[in-house]
Amino acid sequence: MTTDPASENVQEGTSEPDTGLRHRHLLGLEGWPSEDITRVLDTAVQFREVLDRPIRSVPSLRGVTVVNLFYEPSTRTRISFELAEKRLSADVVNFGSSGSSVSKGETLRDTARNIEAMKIDMVVVRHSSAGAPSFLTRCVNAVVINAGDGAHEHPTQALLDAMTIRQQFGRIRGLRIAIIGDIMHSRVARSNLHALTTMGAEVTLCGPASLLPVHLDRLLGEKARGQVRITTRLEEALDGCDVAMALRIQMERQGRSLFPSVREYHEQFGIQLEHLEKYKDLIVMHPGPVNRGVELATDVVDHERALILNQVTNGVAVRMSVLYLMADGRKQHA
Ligand code: NCD
Repeated sequence: MTTDPASENVQEGTSEPDTGLRHRHLLGLEGWPSEDITRVLDTAVQFREVLDRPIRSVPSLRGVTVVNLFYEPSTRTRISFELAEKRLSADVVNFGSSGSSVSKGETLRDTARNIEAMKIDMVVVRHSSAGAPSFLTRCVNAVVINAGDGAHEHPTQALLDAMTIRQQFGRIRGLRIAIIGDIMHSRVARSNLHALTTMGAEVTLCGPASLLPVHLDRLLGEKARGQVRITTRLEEALDGCDVAMALRIQMERQGRSLFPSVREYHEQFGIQLEHLEKYKDLIVMHPGPVNRGVELATDVVDHERALILNQVTNGVAVRMSVLYLMADGRKQHA
């Protein structure tokens, strides 16, 4: 980073930082090189400082218009993006599918093209269909940022997780990270798998057999074969582990129940206070929303070694970083 993103104005273009990200859009972290992930995290650290100032905004995206297209319920991701955009002084428009022309039958393509005709620069999209953000890149000229698409990817979540881990340990390489729960339906797990293996962590996937991916090779390719292992036993996943990342059970994506009962799930895969007492250095993370008493015992959610609220704060900084770097990329990729 040659300039300070926290003070410089991208739009006026007085100085042109070489952000040099390889991708024009952020559709997923599959294929993102470690240098680009590191650049996002380093820039996010600078924006994280802005969030601690009395006046928490910078003029970096003044004159840039961002549309948040949220086709799926979301609280923290939507608010986090909106805050990030506002902290960067972008012009922000929010679009939700209910109460809009979508409920009158308009297609995603038509909605996007109509919004773009009003002159916008960036689109942040959440959609229940995997591939919707990629489809959008073929319909509009704006930069597209994926805020979660079906069970495919949720790249900004994995970036904020990576930032939180790096903040805690000073590195990601060599750490042992367990991702626990509904791996199969989780876009958070997919994006984290790509990011964490690229950054050199060792990942253990743990959950009921019915919620684990069958073809890991197909998901990750050859590169991560030695870095990822799978187990159905929680103790095996937690033993020697630095970070336990619990995932929400995605009832809405399962279609039918893939495990006997929530109580049984909690007994076998829920992280309990005893785990934190047994594994003294273990750190717990969760992307939210947490089902207390299911993925995490309620006293684990509030434990000092649970970083859930740090993740939320870092989410704003990471999204500021992504928006800032990708907005600048508009010029480089134009
Ligand atoms: C995640 C999501 O929506 O994919 N939540 C989030 O973005 N904070 C995880 C989840 O819904 O379980």
